[in-house]
Amino acid sequence: MKKIEAVIRPAKLEDVKEALGKYGIHGMTVSQVLGCGLQRGRVSVYRGHEYSINLLPKLKVEIVVKDHLVDEVVRVVTEAARTGEIGDGKIFIYPVENAIRIRTGESGNDAI
Ligand SMILES: Nc1ncnc2c1ncn2[C@@H]1O[C@H](COP(=O)(O)OP(=O)(O)OP(=O)(O)O)[C@@H](O)[C@H]1O
Ligand SMILES: [Mg+2]
Repeated sequence: MKKIEAVIRPAKLEDVKEALGKYGIHGMTVSQVLGCGLQRGRVSVYRGHEYSINLLPKLKVEIVVKDHLVDEVVRVVTEAARTGEIGDGKIFIYPVENAIRIRTGESGNDAI
């Protein structure tokens, strides 16, 4: 299992949710976060404040999937979240040791 962690624009959540739903993804966690990337939170390039950092509101979408689905889910999220402008977001992929469905005690692939 892998965790796909996508930091996206808040305005793109509906598109990403819809795309994941169509793809058949049933479980996800969404959190409100603050972040910045290469431009240190500047939304356009301008002079001054060269070293300051500005944290912008973003959403973090976490999806744990079976290994063989990773590439497709990354593609689906990337396409749904992209505007082509700076600040579109980033995707990180982590190995997941285990998952347990609390109701039944199922674990591993059976739990996701
Ligand atoms: N290296 C990083 N580590 C952790 N979080 C990051 C990192 N880079 C980006 N993020 C998160 O992703 C959000 C969006 O990043 P962003 O899309 O601006 O990345 P970028 O590398 O600056 O690309 P772009 O040039 O397209 O803006 C940030 O607000 C931050 O929350
Ligand atoms: Mg950026």
